[in-house]
Amino acid sequence: MSALMQTYARLPVNFTHGEGATLWDEQGRRYIDALSGIAVCSLGHAHPNVTRAITDQAGKLLHTSNLYGIESQEQLGQTLCELSGLDTAFFCNSGAEANEAAIKIARRHGHAKGLASPKIVVFDGAFHGRTLATLTATANPKAKEGFGPLVEGFIRVPYGDAQAVAELAEQHSDIAAVFVEPVQGEGGVRVPPKGYLSDLRKLCNQHDWLLMLDEIQTGIGRTGEWFAFQHEDIAPDVMSLAKALGNGVPVGACLAGSKAAQLLQAGSHGTTFGGNPLACRAALAVIESIQEDQLLGKVQQQSQYMLQHFQHALEQQSGVVDIRACGLMIGIELAHPCAELVAQALHEHQLLINVTAGNTIRLLPPFVMTQEQIDFTVDAVISLTQQFLKAAA
Ligand SMILES: Cc1ncc(COP(=O)(O)O)c(C=O)c1O
Repeated sequence: MSALMQTYARLPVNFTHGEGATLWDEQGRRYIDALSGIAVCSLGHAHPNVTRAITDQAGKLLHTSNLYGIESQEQLGQTLCELSGLDTAFFCNSGAEANEAAIKIARRHGHAKGLASPKIVVFDGAFHGRTLATLTATANPKAKEGFGPLVEGFIRVPYGDAQAVAELAEQHSDIAAVFVEPVQGEGGVRVPPKGYLSDLRKLCNQHDWLLMLDEIQTGIGRTGEWFAFQHEDIAPDVMSLAKALGNGVPVGACLAGSKAAQLLQAGSHGTTFGGNPLACRAALAVIESIQEDQLLGKVQQQSQYMLQHFQHALEQQSGVVDIRACGLMIGIELAHPCAELVAQALHEHQLLINVTAGNTIRLLPPFVMTQEQIDFTVDAVISLTQQFLKAAA
């Protein structure tokens, strides 16, 4: 019996090393990774710039604590603020922690407005993490089973419908913030209607609510912009990041704009490891590499290419409900639960993919796939889907 808590239903393969979009297992078999460790390794595996930055830093200094200055943390904060147009950053170690910081900022904003019990608007289909507050903000009831009592102060409405949020203003006078994923990842690669974030921005301005974006999955280039909100001409008040920020080195960040930038002060929030020199050097190397190799444009081109091929091959196929993409977040929604496709892709094609929300094949390829790897992935996914639908018919 494994000494690990059984929190994951793992597939029976152990990877030993990787390079770009390629992984090798213990038997020396080669795989193509179209999942990037769930939107983490956007630069692929063993990226030389990231490896160089962390080995250099590991030989110098790993940790001193946030009781002292950390130059690379200052630099990373500055860089993320320049890229996003926001003003301040708090660094932590994961997505859930970045969202915890956002939730605490919303509470502070509410109390500053004189609300005794401030509420945060969250959405059907949302995923924000596994800590108690982020689990409460998450929609999936199964993920919450057996963990009550959860945290107070959240109101849930349908995703993608700004009118549903507008109507809340008439019913609730104690809302402090709207907390939303620009594209829902775990919720099934749900891309909201164009203008949705702008509509939410207007509502937040109108009612003095913070617009807080969970860009943990969408951020750092995944959608073809640095941040998904940059597809619309708006800025959030708060934004959380993690996943791809360190390309596999754990690092999260909560950024805030002017209205929210000073709500957390010394003594009101913190974390021992947050923003340590190793994590910050990794994140700086990630950002530089995306810039140097002009990967944002590449994400958009690859997205178009893959989407067109999937649409051409699968759109008319009965059993395919919808094909969605925003940059390199790609979802193929089927009419049937299809979780078994993950193992099939692994064993039959040596390809790493994912199924989310029960019936949506999800691809989160690294930005550095070769054309050959992209074509392999597209052909394998089309073949798996057609075979699955034939069997299900
Ligand atoms: C949108 C979003 N928010 C938050 C999280 C939680 O991040 P972490 O697993 O690093 O705590 C995830 C993870 O999948 C996510 O996709």
